[in-house]
Amino acid sequence: MHNTAAIVFRDGITRFVKVDNDELLMDAARRHGVNLPVDCREGVCATCRCLRESGEVEVEYIDEEALTEEEIAKGHVLACQTRLRSTHASFYFDVDSSICSVATELHDGIVSAVEPVSDGAAILEITLDDPARALPYLPGQYARIEVPGTNEWRAYSFATAAVREGKLRFLIRLLPSGVMSDYLRDRARVGDAISLEGPLGAFYLREVQRPLLMVAGGTGLSAFLGMLEELVEKGECTQPIRLCYGVTQEQDLSELDRLAAFAEALPDFVFEPIVMNASAAWQGKRGVVCDLFDRDFLSQPFDAYLCGPPPMIEASRQWLEEREVGEHRLFFEKFVSS
Ligand SMILES: Cc1cc2nc3c(=O)[nH]c(=O)nc-3n(C[C@H](O)[C@H](O)[C@H](O)COP(=O)(O)OP(=O)(O)OC[C@H]3O[C@@H](n4cnc5c(N)ncnc54)[C@H](O)[C@@H]3O)c2cc1C
Ligand code: FES
Repeated sequence: MHNTAAIVFRDGITRFVKVDNDELLMDAARRHGVNLPVDCREGVCATCRCLRESGEVEVEYIDEEALTEEEIAKGHVLACQTRLRSTHASFYFDVDSSICSVATELHDGIVSAVEPVSDGAAILEITLDDPARALPYLPGQYARIEVPGTNEWRAYSFATAAVREGKLRFLIRLLPSGVMSDYLRDRARVGDAISLEGPLGAFYLREVQRPLLMVAGGTGLSAFLGMLEELVEKGECTQPIRLCYGVTQEQDLSELDRLAAFAEALPDFVFEPIVMNASAAWQGKRGVVCDLFDRDFLSQPFDAYLCGPPPMIEASRQWLEEREVGEHRLFFEKFVSS
């Protein structure tokens, strides 16, 4: 019997390792070629410290010199003293993967669909050549995809909770001109060979223990589609979730039916779109995502996840910094261009 641990590094590289019931996290990682930083192996030096971000664990010993009570209360553990007690858990190590001899993984596949979902975005579906070869990731993370026929790579957030029948989906904005945008609009054909690298990124859904604010700008929605799908599948989330979804024009709105289905399936999930340059016919809200922030909702402790163009993330961060809102953790993914 074994459980699975996601090991996330500061540079966003993630490795999934199988951990036997009586095995220490440190040993399981080494068995999978991930050499976590360790020194004393006795719970004293804290070289192997990490943050448990989800899952249940049993920790054998923590010396008072290693971690403070406050750090332990926040979820810090020692990999040399930790065993898993749930089927899945994730741990964040504040070191770069390169010092743990971890290489990124390349996967090959074919384009199996390109589906327009709005005037300015499409879903790219990739079917992996080897469906038996695992590509685990945490919803919210991303892959780098090589644009077929070029040597250019672009980053895209996974738009589903996991690989399904060997298929991956990505929600991609089509710019008027751009290497991936031009490929998807003009040249993409079902059957094109395509390569990707992943999983990458430290933007992923942590254990949901308090209300969630999700803020999506344009195709930043992609990461939330994966996160929400996971919450529906697990069926355990009772916390309220508010998704503020901002786009430039109403024609950019994507996947509203999918969001409506999440709202049906989750006990307290509300999403609202807002359009910056709306036409006269638009009946909904006009403005930017911050105009949707509900001060009552944000007066309680919460976790905030922001994903999309850098100006939207900066504006949202500034809004939260300048207002009297509840204590919160903030995670974000900026769609910076390559
Ligand atoms: C971690 C990460 C995750 C990402 N996830 C997604 C995702 O899930 N969905 C998605 O659509 N994009 C995502 N992006 C952005 C994506 O990687 C590309 O930058 C984007 O798709 C443009 O690629 P392109 O090849 O079409 O254009 P490029 O050839 O890269 O750029 C063409 C021109 O457009 C400009 N440009 C690039 N991006 C923008 C922009 N957003 N707005 C205006 N002008 C721009 C460039 O400066 C350049 O002048 C992500 C980026 C990062 C870093
Ligand atoms: S290696 Fe020293 S506390 Fe784990």
